[in-house]
Amino acid sequence: MDAPRRGAVDSGVRAIADPDFRDDVLAGLASPIRAIPARWFYDRRGSELFEAITRLPEYYLTRADASLLERHAAEVAAVTGAGRAVVEFGSGSSAKTPILLRAVAPSSYVPIDISGDFLRHSAAELQPLFPDLPIHAVEADFMVPVRLPEAVRDAPKLGFFPGSTIGNLVAGTGVDLLRRMKDTLGLGSYLLIGMDRVKNPAVLLRAYDDAAGVTAAFNLNLLHRINRELGGTIPVEAFRHRALWNDPLGRIEMHLEAMRDVAFDVDSKRFTMRAGETIHTENSHKYGPRDARLLLKAGGWEAVREWTDPDESFALILAVAEATRVAP
Ligand code: AVI
Repeated sequence: MDAPRRGAVDSGVRAIADPDFRDDVLAGLASPIRAIPARWFYDRRGSELFEAITRLPEYYLTRADASLLERHAAEVAAVTGAGRAVVEFGSGSSAKTPILLRAVAPSSYVPIDISGDFLRHSAAELQPLFPDLPIHAVEADFMVPVRLPEAVRDAPKLGFFPGSTIGNLVAGTGVDLLRRMKDTLGLGSYLLIGMDRVKNPAVLLRAYDDAAGVTAAFNLNLLHRINRELGGTIPVEAFRHRALWNDPLGRIEMHLEAMRDVAFDVDSKRFTMRAGETIHTENSHKYGPRDARLLLKAGGWEAVREWTDPDESFALILAVAEATRVAP
């Protein structure tokens, strides 16, 4: 049994649910196009399943991102110079962080994550590798401007946002996030960001619907989480994982499809779904080189270097926060 954490249950006892989770689920299930924000995947079990996804043979993203970082971190350092405060957005398990920190000789490291558990865990794992590096962990939602600790406020900064997490946001929200990051880091700061590239849909579909069924378990865990935390009666076995490529919007979508007519309660509210209807649970946008530069530009960042692997399956982009200019 997982250790209890915020909004989770311990030994069958229903914990106090996160009110934002409840509101998002109830609104999402009641909406004409049913959808639940992907951020609710990441309870403890969901985070474990995501870590397992990153090791799947079909899920090339994490390996591509890490190997680009291995190969080009020295060039990143040559552009940005040493001694910056490295600010990582959504540090998670910080698996790629040591590669960057070793190359750029930072003055400090500031992991920002909404989960205090994860932050403490990753800071504790990193510190022995970098015993002299000041680590200032910030528990915060980076979708809003974050007040950085006093000790790093005046330091030059390098933001780090690997893994193509930006792809999980629709364009408007992605641009808002890039602007918030610019507000947090300040003009003249750099941002090193990973973005997955548009490619053969068959490759993408395999990455999001793997043979071992780990991604299916990750998606279906959301229903288990609703049952555990919101007193849900969803018949999980009546749902299946669906991944599809939405070509006009350039994204993989994940859905949970009812395989028969179902009726269930969540937080004492009744919901029904017909066979074949779905709950939309995630978007994962893929970008061409121009899309990526345009997205960054709209968010106030100018791409100054861009690296891809030989297959051009993934891009690592270094951008600088530019002063706002009047057109053109
Ligand atoms: C976290 N994010 C970048 C992953 C992605 O590829 O969009 C989440 C994920 N969903 C299914 N597999 C991985």
